[in-house]
Amino acid sequence: MQNVLITGGAGFIGSNFVLYLLATQPDVHLVNLDALTYAGCMQNLDNITDENRYEFIKGSILNQPLLDRIFQEHRIDTVVHFAAETHVDRSIYDPRIFLDTNITGTYTLLEAARNAWLDQQWVPLQGCRFHQISTDEVYGTLAPNDPPFFEAQAYAPRSPYSASKASADHFVRAFGNTYGLPFTISNCSNNYGPRQYPEKLIPLIALNAVGGKTLPVYGDGLQIRDWIYVEDHCRAVLDILTRGQPGSTYNIGGGNQPTNLEIVQHICSILDELQPDPTNHSYADRIEFVIDRRGHDRRYAMDTSMIEIELEWKPRETLDSGLRKTIQWYLEHPEWVAAVKMRPDYQEWIALNYQERGGLA
Ligand code: NAD
Ligand code: DAU
Repeated sequence: MQNVLITGGAGFIGSNFVLYLLATQPDVHLVNLDALTYAGCMQNLDNITDENRYEFIKGSILNQPLLDRIFQEHRIDTVVHFAAETHVDRSIYDPRIFLDTNITGTYTLLEAARNAWLDQQWVPLQGCRFHQISTDEVYGTLAPNDPPFFEAQAYAPRSPYSASKASADHFVRAFGNTYGLPFTISNCSNNYGPRQYPEKLIPLIALNAVGGKTLPVYGDGLQIRDWIYVEDHCRAVLDILTRGQPGSTYNIGGGNQPTNLEIVQHICSILDELQPDPTNHSYADRIEFVIDRRGHDRRYAMDTSMIEIELEWKPRETLDSGLRKTIQWYLEHPEWVAAVKMRPDYQEWIALNYQERGGLA
């Protein structure tokens, strides 16, 4: 791994990964390709000082000539593909862009990798690797007593978002099987941490709380997610890139199973301690149950024994330690929060979702 193309590196996990890679891999050169959609933010990359081994390119994974040029000019040998439309609620309102970015975008990137890495006998460049960042949502939903998702499980996506990610994963495997393109895939559970766009549960609740707003919990709040601190995810991806078996899929998860309501209450109790509400009420008093997400998956859980045994990876943060770091980060970065909140695309989204949720959020 010498010249790495990271797609979507101005988004939440991508920017954390860029910073992580620069900090841990002094010999690696990085190209960060990001279209800067509503979810991409240049401020996420403000702390980068390694100008000699890092380049940002504003552009789309749908732009094949641009991709071909990047592969050639930067002699890319590794792709870590984060770029995507990622919000399940948005995919319910308007699925089209999820097909374009997540399916056609991944396909276009795979074609660029195939052009650059396979010779005329389809022998791949030594050491090249396409790593697909995927999600636990491709496996579908679990009943209360079902065992956790495992890697060989059949895909059963249920939202437009997860269907688009599942399709992308299938294309990655198809390019591996058909053309011999070296690849790995990781399916990760719900991430949280610094720089997550506040359309997602954890930053939305934390910022609504300190902003004096109500805290919207969809449906009965008893849905279950497996939460992982973003740096644990970044470390797992690096472990897969450096030591994972080409052609393999690895599940990544945080190893916890709170209900959404418990997560929201946990955020409130941390905030009660770190920055008590001026009215002396607990933030939890502002929890409101709102209209549920359509087709809402009930439970996700990950069996991570493969990555734990094969690569000796384990999450380091507990839910409490990760949540504290995350909330602290948002409290300490009011300028980041203000910049996101000022953007018309953010305000439009909040208004649309507010309407859909019965006006309670
Ligand atoms: P995000 O929404 O914060 O960021 C996505 C980034 O992709 C943005 O910077 C955006 O500008 C960029 N992008 C979108 N379309 C693009 C295009 N056509 N060309 C180039 N760049 C484009 O996303 P995230 O939450 O950081 O998720 C990153 C990846 O991880 C996604 O593939 C997602 O499916 C996967 N994932 C996310 C989670 C999670 O909990 N957030 C969990 C598992 C897997
Ligand atoms: O599981 C991995 C996935 O996690 C990723 O692939 C997705 O890209 C990422 O967005 C995330 O999807 P979720 O739909 O699980 O995340 P979200 O933060 O939107 O919602 C988490 C849970 O909280 C979900 O059950 C819906 C609920 N929720 C969400 C919001 C925004 C609420 O109850 N209230 C809210 O306001």
